[in-house]
Amino acid sequence: MKKAWMTVISQKEIARNIYEMTLEGELVEMMSSPGQFVHIRVTEGFDTLLRRPISISSIDTKKGRFRITYRADGKGTKLLATKQSGEKIDVLGPLGNGFPIAQLNSRDHALIVGGGIGVPPLLELTKQLNQTGVRTTHILGFQSKEDVFYKNEFSYFGDTYVATVDGSYGTKGFVTTILDEITPSFTTLFACGPTPMLKALENMYPNENVYLSLEERMGCGIGACFACVCHLQDDPQGYTYKKVCTDGPVFKAREVVL
Ligand code: FES
Repeated sequence: MKKAWMTVISQKEIARNIYEMTLEGELVEMMSSPGQFVHIRVTEGFDTLLRRPISISSIDTKKGRFRITYRADGKGTKLLATKQSGEKIDVLGPLGNGFPIAQLNSRDHALIVGGGIGVPPLLELTKQLNQTGVRTTHILGFQSKEDVFYKNEFSYFGDTYVATVDGSYGTKGFVTTILDEITPSFTTLFACGPTPMLKALENMYPNENVYLSLEERMGCGIGACFACVCHLQDDPQGYTYKKVCTDGPVFKAREVVL
C-alpha cells in the first residue's frame, strides 16, 4: 500500500451515474490481485473531503494504468466525476485482500455474480481467470436498462446473463432468478454486490466453494475507524471480529455475518 498522485487519463459516464476513470501512475506496479480497491481523496478548493473507497475494474501494468468504476451519488464521488484528463488525484492503495484465484486451474468453472456497483471488480477477476484457462460464466443484476454496464466486456470472456428488477433489459428479476432458471454447475462462485444478494447466494449454495466481496461496508479503508467490523458466523456475539477493509473485502461464504 502506498499513497501517490495519479494522473487522470480519461473519464466517461458509462451508465446512469456510473463513471469509469482511467488513471496512470506508479501505484499500478503494486496491483495484481482482482478485488482490491483504492482510497481516493477528493478536494474542492481548500475543502478536503474524506477518502472514498473505490473498486479497481481493470489493471494494465504494461501501460502503468488502471481503471476505477464508481457511482457518483454523494458529494465526494460527484466531485470526482467532474475531474478532467490531466488532473492529478490523491490515491491510496491498493488496499484489501482480493479474490483467491491461485487455487483455480483450467479444469475449473467459475461462476461470477455481480449486482449494481458490485460489478466492476469482477471484470478484472474474469480477465485474470480467463488468462489462466479458467472457464467463466457471468450473471449481472441491475435496477433498470439505464443502469446496465459492462455486458459486452463480460461477454468477451464467457456466457453472460443480465437481470433487471423492472425487466427493461434481460431477465426480469434478480440474479437469483437467472440462477434458478439456468441452474449452472461450477467449481467456485465469486460475487460482489449488495448484502441481500450476497445473503441469497450464501443460502442458495450452502455446500459450494463461494467467495463474497463486501465492499459496500467500508469507511476509512485502512483499519482505523472500525466502521467495517463484522462478526464471525461461528461467534456472532463474541469479541472476535474481522475488518472488511483489511481482512477482506473478500471473505469465504459463511465466514462472517452479512
Ligand atoms: Fe475503517 Fe475498516 S473501513 S476500519
